[in-house]
Amino acid sequence: MRTIRKAIIPAAGFGTRFLPATKAQPKEMLPLINKPSIQYIVEEAIASGIEDILIITGRNKRAIEDHFDHNVELENFLKKQGKLDEYSEVLKIATMADIHFIRQKEQLGLGHAVLCARCFVGDEPFAVLLGDDIIDNPSKPALLQMVEQYRQYGKTVVGVQPVPTAEVSKYGIISGRQIGEALYELDDLIEKPAPEEAPTNLAIVGRYIIHPEIFAILAETKPGRGGEIQLTDALRELCTKQGMQALALQGERHDIGDKWGYIKAILSFALRSDELRDKLTAFLREQLQERIPVAP
Ligand code: G1P
Repeated sequence: MRTIRKAIIPAAGFGTRFLPATKAQPKEMLPLINKPSIQYIVEEAIASGIEDILIITGRNKRAIEDHFDHNVELENFLKKQGKLDEYSEVLKIATMADIHFIRQKEQLGLGHAVLCARCFVGDEPFAVLLGDDIIDNPSKPALLQMVEQYRQYGKTVVGVQPVPTAEVSKYGIISGRQIGEALYELDDLIEKPAPEEAPTNLAIVGRYIIHPEIFAILAETKPGRGGEIQLTDALRELCTKQGMQALALQGERHDIGDKWGYIKAILSFALRSDELRDKLTAFLREQLQERIPVAP
């Protein structure tokens, strides 16, 4: 089957890099302008043809469930006030897709989170989208680029982008040979290698289309790097059994799990917004003038 209907969005982490903001709310609800970051991910999935989404949550994740549910009181209020744009915006979120939730009871790693989706996925290929990676491509969403690839080849595919060599140890890194302009046939994947061990600088950037045989492998996968059950370790085995591809994704990637990446994402979205662009550029100009010393 070459249609990808289901997607998993793991959202069970503690968000330690954003404490204390994430003490009582999930990091996926931190806003990029006026939308929580997880909404961008859900919208990307829907724009890529996904019909059913499973969000894997942990403790403190009620806000995510509420966000994608109706808020009848708010809807009625907006309607009564005649705020119809806001009303349809709020209504859209609650009706955009079939969104389901499951709780990962222990945080044993990304591989374990994906394994929690076994019953939901059943026996069909599925997508995984990681919330820390926003890949901004207004003309073709990152996951859609992969869905189109998958339609053609029918192989498990991971989304990659080049990263500086000094940063390879933050990512899953692929090894393989290039078979098309942006396409690689893989022979291995390594989770967070040291720069001198990395076979390439092509990093997995939080987008996957995976065959369901991964679940049997994940059920047997031992904790790997960081003592966690790693999705990359299970993919490595799946690659040996079935082969695998990587697609270099087009789009500006923001690692919003990182404070600097988060700020850059906000600035980048603001610079594209008709409402904010001019104000932001004027403000930045002013700030820079104050900070850059005037030449003598
Ligand atoms: C996870 C994956 C890693 C991938 C990265 C992308 O790591 O394990 O392979 O490259 O996401 O963001 P994490 O960032 O959760 O440590």
